[in-house]
Amino acid sequence: MNPQNAHVILLLYPAQGHINPLVQFAKRLVAKGLKATIGTTPYTVNHINAPILSSSIEPISDGYDEAGFKQAPSVQAYLQSYESVGSKALCELILKFRDSDSPVNCIIYDSLLPWALDVAKKFGIFGAVFLTNSASVCSLYWEIKMGRIDFPLDEDKFEVSLPGLPVLEFCDMPSLIARPEEHYAYLAIIMEKFQRLEDNDWVFCNTFQDLENELLKAMEGQWPLIPVGPMIPSAYLGQPTEGDTAYGASLWEPSSHTYMTWVDTKPPASVVFVSFGSMGTTTAKQAQEIAKGLKASKKHFIWVLKESDGKLPPGLSDEDEDDDGGLVVTWCNQVEVLAHPSVGCFVTHCGWNSVIEALSIGVPIVGVAQWSDQPTNAKLVEELWGVGIRARRDSDGILRGEELDKCVREVMDGAKSEGIRRNASKWSESAAKAVSANGSSDKNITKFIRTLMMGKG
Ligand code: UDX
Repeated sequence: MNPQNAHVILLLYPAQGHINPLVQFAKRLVAKGLKATIGTTPYTVNHINAPILSSSIEPISDGYDEAGFKQAPSVQAYLQSYESVGSKALCELILKFRDSDSPVNCIIYDSLLPWALDVAKKFGIFGAVFLTNSASVCSLYWEIKMGRIDFPLDEDKFEVSLPGLPVLEFCDMPSLIARPEEHYAYLAIIMEKFQRLEDNDWVFCNTFQDLENELLKAMEGQWPLIPVGPMIPSAYLGQPTEGDTAYGASLWEPSSHTYMTWVDTKPPASVVFVSFGSMGTTTAKQAQEIAKGLKASKKHFIWVLKESDGKLPPGLSDEDEDDDGGLVVTWCNQVEVLAHPSVGCFVTHCGWNSVIEALSIGVPIVGVAQWSDQPTNAKLVEELWGVGIRARRDSDGILRGEELDKCVREVMDGAKSEGIRRNASKWSESAAKAVSANGSSDKNITKFIRTLMMGKG
């Protein structure tokens, strides 16, 4: 079979941290000659503002076409609706292509949509899941599935040792595992996915072999996980671009401020970039503390604050540089900012995309974990990969200005800064190697395409 006759549907979960890696995967498959169609909710289709180059995009309804997720009464209701309405829409899409020149022969679906595997099986085509967490975090869910971690966790005594990872305590665990009562709907769907992992033809993960080598090696033969990342455009990894530098597909318009021109005016490695991803919210109290810490550090900064209304202290305003060289924007092209030589530190909530983007581009991190996989990611940033440090929140959950100031200074100028920078550039080289021709992730993708073309036996 010619690769052009292989046709993959990539089914997205409509959250920014899930859209970006899967859209990027679609681009990589298209660059290798496959036909890729992106299936996502009508709300997402209507709101993404970046062109998805070379893939067509088709609506798969989640039952909330007007306002998407925020229209749903609960996470559980949303996931159930997406399953019942989305399954039908996905079947119709496959039928639509059935009599065309390029019938669909594989569905690659986001791990929060495990019902897509049933659709693939119904049509006798390949089904593959795409995991948006690190392999280390996935291994924690896997250990629970295997009954090797006692669940629920005992907060006072809990610790776990896994190959290649530092010992993890209760506070380092993903919040879905540590506080299941707060996230029941997400945890249920994640555990369902891990129960059925082996039913997939492939299990892709947005990581690369070297980054989690010891763990991946120890797990070989136990689980079917295949590293294919990092899912960021090759241009940011010093690789040939095939003309494509656009990243993912953004649900928000970037700020109208010419922030990249602003960053251009700053000296190398002098700017702190602050961004807490797409899902979290920053309270007014927290915003005041962040502003205090950034001011105290006396560094230039660019800070993404999605809703800044009334949250900023006097002197700082949305979309305007303040007197001390700080800029607040509502949204930006994060990888573009990270890749700018003037950026010397990334203050992040440690969402997996943000971490793997910074690791791949080689930017030192101050980790301010919020929820989900972020506490584990922050732990590994500091203790496994040595590319940054974790900032501690107070018992009321607030990151104080003093703590932020201390961490920013430590990462940029402190005793640990040289080692952190060295590790950051080492991981950046390693990421570039993984996605270059014949690198570990590139080989895994090529092998997948070869099997896909041989067809289901
Ligand atoms: C969520 C979870 O928080 C995360 O832990 C999980 O691994 C995936 O889902 P999110 O909180 O949005 O994602 O964080 P993250 O994973 O870092 O994804 C955010 C994405 O938005 C990144 O790809 C980042 O590049 C992008 N972004 C963020 C922008 O493009 N512009 C911005 O201004 C901010």
